[in-house]
Amino acid sequence: CSVAPCIVSLLFISVLMGEPRIVSPNITLYPVWKGKLGNSAVRLICTLSGFYPDKLSVEWQHDQRPLNIVPNELKLQSMEGREKTFSLSSEIEPNITEWTTGSSFTCKATHEGSEYEKTTSICESKYECELLH
Ligand SMILES: *[C@@H]1O[C@H](CO)[C@@H](O)[C@H](O)[C@H]1NC(C)=O
Ligand SMILES: *[C@@H]1O[C@H](CO)[C@@H](O)[C@H](O)[C@H]1NC(C)=O
Repeated sequence: CSVAPCIVSLLFISVLMGEPRIVSPNITLYPVWKGKLGNSAVRLICTLSGFYPDKLSVEWQHDQRPLNIVPNELKLQSMEGREKTFSLSSEIEPNITEWTTGSSFTCKATHEGSEYEKTTSICESKYECELLH
């Protein structure tokens, strides 16, 4: 091959290999429950979707303090076009007394040195909040 295209393609390859791909997660956090509100256990589901690489950690907080609870975690992978990404869902069952009295719960994820967090409480939904207070 002639020299110029070879150099261009070598440069292109080194750019591709030299910069590892980082895709930030999209974070959502919402409560789910079965049956009648205030009457059944609530679960909080935090979903981190579409991130790469797969190393990500999640911690939970209750009113801004670390929550000593082992979440149920599920990590899955998928392809967006040709690019592989990962998703992780982390689920806890908060103390129902604390939940119904309006405490806030936070899901905080760390990925590639950046933090992503979402907070929820029963009062995120005005209707539920009014029903209980
Ligand atoms: C992240 O979530 C927001 C809101 O749901 C959506 O608009 C956006 O497209 C999502 N981003 C990715 C990369 O999926
Ligand atoms: C829930 O929280 C309340 C108030 O902090 C506490 O008294 C109770 O023991 C907790 N229940 C459980 C099951 O941890």
